Amino acid sequence: MSNRNDAPEADVATVQPPEPAPQKSGKKVHVKTFGCQMNVYDSERIAEALAPMGYSETDTQEDADIVILNTCHIREKAAEKVYSELGRVRLVKESREAEGKQTMVAVAGCVAQAEGAEISRRAPIVDLVIGPQSYHRLPALLEQARTEKRKLVETAFPEEEKFDELPDRATAQALLEKAALSARQTKSAPKLPARSRAPTAFLTVQEGCDKFCTFCVVPYTRGMEYSRGVEKLAGEAASLSSRGVREVTLLGQNVNAYHGEGADGKDWSLAQLIDRIADVEGIERIRYTTSHPRDMSEDLIAAHWDQDKLMPYLHLPFQAGSDRILAAMNRKHTADEYRSIIDRLRNARPDLALSTDIIVGFPGETDAEFAETIALVEEIEFAQAYSFKYSPRPGTPAAKIEEQVPEDVKTARLHQLQDTLFAQQTKFNKSMVGRTIPVLFERLGRQEGQLVGRSPYLQPVHASGQPEIIGKIVDVAITGATQNSLAGDI
Ligand code: 5AD
Ligand code: SF4
Repeated sequence: MSNRNDAPEADVATVQPPEPAPQKSGKKVHVKTFGCQMNVYDSERIAEALAPMGYSETDTQEDADIVILNTCHIREKAAEKVYSELGRVRLVKESREAEGKQTMVAVAGCVAQAEGAEISRRAPIVDLVIGPQSYHRLPALLEQARTEKRKLVETAFPEEEKFDELPDRATAQALLEKAALSARQTKSAPKLPARSRAPTAFLTVQEGCDKFCTFCVVPYTRGMEYSRGVEKLAGEAASLSSRGVREVTLLGQNVNAYHGEGADGKDWSLAQLIDRIADVEGIERIRYTTSHPRDMSEDLIAAHWDQDKLMPYLHLPFQAGSDRILAAMNRKHTADEYRSIIDRLRNARPDLALSTDIIVGFPGETDAEFAETIALVEEIEFAQAYSFKYSPRPGTPAAKIEEQVPEDVKTARLHQLQDTLFAQQTKFNKSMVGRTIPVLFERLGRQEGQLVGRSPYLQPVHASGQPEIIGKIVDVAITGATQNSLAGDI
């Protein structure tokens, strides 16, 4: 059972899907992902949902019998970007039609949730609009749209957990791989989806957000906070491990608010979940993102001290350094409270690499208030950070504030902030030179003989080595560093 509330959309058509009809194999699906890591995870699950019907993945739209855009609503002009992408999809669909091939088009993700039926009104090529909570219904709904030749919109927040209805991950990945191999033997070769062999994976443990920061659309597009059960997650981690995954990143819009049901029937914290996932055979590294300062509980801070598999990296957005702006953002914490959390984290794990999100030019932000953001950045020193100019999101409280900051002021503030952040990032990376660190190798690099992996601190590391090393954690002596990556010798 989920604790979701109703959809914020008025024009929701809830559709009862029929059972999916078995399809001929050789069909292909192209899923294009926009936005956050949770969308990357969702796209994997969407492709896997189609695997039992014989679909394999393709990275070109021209080959695809189904094109799915998995959209993101967090940035400015999100909907416009989707419409212009749909303009390109229309051309592909038309040229395939001229060859007698049908293409079904679905729009998924947060723009689908926010725009609803408006999408198929403005872009008639779209057969299905489907919100993030209904992906388990996607194969059946697409089939229904195809056979009944009508447009469907599904943006409800259903009561059942969508993940319960989606196929087991290892089984579905094996099916995708098999379908891709058989397509390869018959016609033009689609690339094997790299992720079916990737040693790292995302695992969504929590979705939605009840925090209602005044600038953010997430509570409206992803609904209220919901945590998946501990044992189901441990099962999914075991399934990922069985196909070679060594590192999992636990995902949630508000991941440290996690409170899923444990084996004892009680609510477990994120720290308890991390310990449970750490017990899954084959899982060597654990990360989690994105966290809210308010939910940085003592047991989670302690986990950075006593759980060896938890990597020394934390993404903890603070958004602004001024208490007045933090209050206007409804962040529910002060700058000093953030400082104190960081102190406690660094006591637990002195080498913790910190990352954050910062917004400049929130409505009414003065030069002096912006200076407090810079001061906080200089004091804390981040290993990495994401920074944004405030952009009004329709329907959010901050968008209605009259005192918007002029664009040129926002741009100047962003540049100043990024200069500081980039210098910190370079300094952090350079501090690795001369050290030997364990690297999980993930893939081949662009250059001949080059491999790319990740340090415990999430830095990309380049080194020469044999492809057999991919999927293994190997010590690397770091010899060089740039703003974005490290280089070293195995
Ligand atoms: N304007 C600018 N940045 C935003 N973010 C979320 N909403 C907005 C907005 N309206 C940023 C926040 C958040 C990150 C995912 O995106 O910093 O942490
Ligand atoms: Fe958005 Fe704030 Fe929730 Fe993060 S905590 S998802 S910024 S409302």
